[in-house]
Amino acid sequence: MKLLLATGNPGKLVEVREILGGAGLELVSLADLHLPSPDEPFSTFAENAAAKATACAVQSGLWALGDDSGLCVDALGGAPGVFSARYAPTEEGRRAKLLANLAEVRDRGAHFICALALSSPDGKRIFRAEGRVDGAIALAARGKNGFGYDPLFLPREAPGRTLAELESTEKNRLSHRGRALERLRPLILKLAKEGNLAEEC
Ligand code: IMP
Repeated sequence: MKLLLATGNPGKLVEVREILGGAGLELVSLADLHLPSPDEPFSTFAENAAAKATACAVQSGLWALGDDSGLCVDALGGAPGVFSARYAPTEEGRRAKLLANLAEVRDRGAHFICALALSSPDGKRIFRAEGRVDGAIALAARGKNGFGYDPLFLPREAPGRTLAELESTEKNRLSHRGRALERLRPLILKLAKEGNLAEEC
């Protein structure tokens, strides 16, 4: 049983593979199938996740898992949010822009959201889950692990350390993506065992 991971983001791929390893599914990437990264045209994480999952499922004829995620900063009214990947052209540029925008700001509260959507091969059944991690934006980037904004994000549950200073198992245990995948895990196990999921939920 194959499951297509409908993302072109290598950081997400690594994490989803690690979290779902052992679930009994063969995890294939868009690159494995020479498919392009899907569009994210909507203004909510949930809509974008569903759009990615259904587009990739229909293109490949496989069950597909879409992930739309991002960082929401309180003092910036929730920005960059769904535009997290497009905040600046490079990961480094995005982190620098965020730090610059918060230069004079004392309230540094923020959270990550991850919306997941699991689509049937015909795109007609969608199963959803969401995860969130709360924390704050550090004064400077720290740590080498993870990807994206990880060096700037101090999760509440790991005081004093950024996500990029956590081992991957620690990040996955408390992260938005780890939590969303744990919520979807029963359905993914059922899919692996039975090869199908009947009811939309
Ligand atoms: P998208 O879901 O493809 O729109 O991209 C989400 C963007 O949000 C990524 O490119 C990262 O910049 C950021 N992001 C999402 N999840 C994480 C994470 O776990 N750590 C760090 N940055 C993340």
